[in-house]
Amino acid sequence: MRIVLLGCPGAGKGTQSKILAERYGLEHVATGDLFRAEIAAKSPLGLKVENYLKSGTLVPDATVVDLVASKLDGLTRGFLLDGFPRTLEQAQSLDKYLSKNKAGIDLVLYLNMNEKEVMRRLTSRRSCPKCGELYNVISRPPQAEGKCDKCGADLVQRPDDSETTVKKRLMVYDDLTRPLVAYYRSQSDFHEVDGAQPVETVTEQLTSIVDSNRGAAR
Ligand code: AP5
Repeated sequence: MRIVLLGCPGAGKGTQSKILAERYGLEHVATGDLFRAEIAAKSPLGLKVENYLKSGTLVPDATVVDLVASKLDGLTRGFLLDGFPRTLEQAQSLDKYLSKNKAGIDLVLYLNMNEKEVMRRLTSRRSCPKCGELYNVISRPPQAEGKCDKCGADLVQRPDDSETTVKKRLMVYDDLTRPLVAYYRSQSDFHEVDGAQPVETVTEQLTSIVDSNRGAAR
């Protein structure tokens, strides 16, 4: 199964992708996570993209497309794309890449979300730099303050989760990524879920869509 999960910053893409990827045995390809790992490793790619992430602007399409293609090449299982594509050009490059491999996107899941709620969610998000677990000091606090429940590492706040940068990311989303909703709605098996509901409710609705899609494919 090949799934694209769309949604604005803070819509819950990372939270839901981790759950779905584990449940369905899919490769979770999250471009933001991949870039953050490169930045932490101070690799040439990390140095190249660092300022884009810091400022809340998009990494150039060619760089992202090459990175995603290198992750998908040779994959023997299905995948879930989280944070990619993010521009029309990226979406078209993905279509071309898949059609070369005689494949296509099976499902596009769109987490719709009121952007006002996003500011509250993102400024209160914390994450584990070691295992990637996500927290929220309001809606999902860790058991011990500032420590990851899973591995005990100190939790961190993403540098691009400041109020100013979140505003910028939302503007970039409106300009460059929101048009993908119309693009996929018109040509894919597209489903919209209200991302403002509790995490468990969003998961239930997404899994029910994936389950019926799998049933139909059998
Ligand atoms: P990326 O890491 O992809 O960030 P994003 O798209 O802005 O999304 P977020 O990770 O902020 O939010 P999310 O939707 O995953 O929400 P989450 O589940 O964490 O990209 C970062 C940067 O990398 C970009 O700005 C760009 O520079 C670069 N980049 C990445 N991909 C690129 C591409 N394709 N092209 C060019 N540049 C690219 O949830 C957020 C918080 O809310 C958490 O605290 C969580 O616990 C909480 N939460 C989640 N769901 C719920 C719920 N239902 N109820 C209450 N709280 C909830």
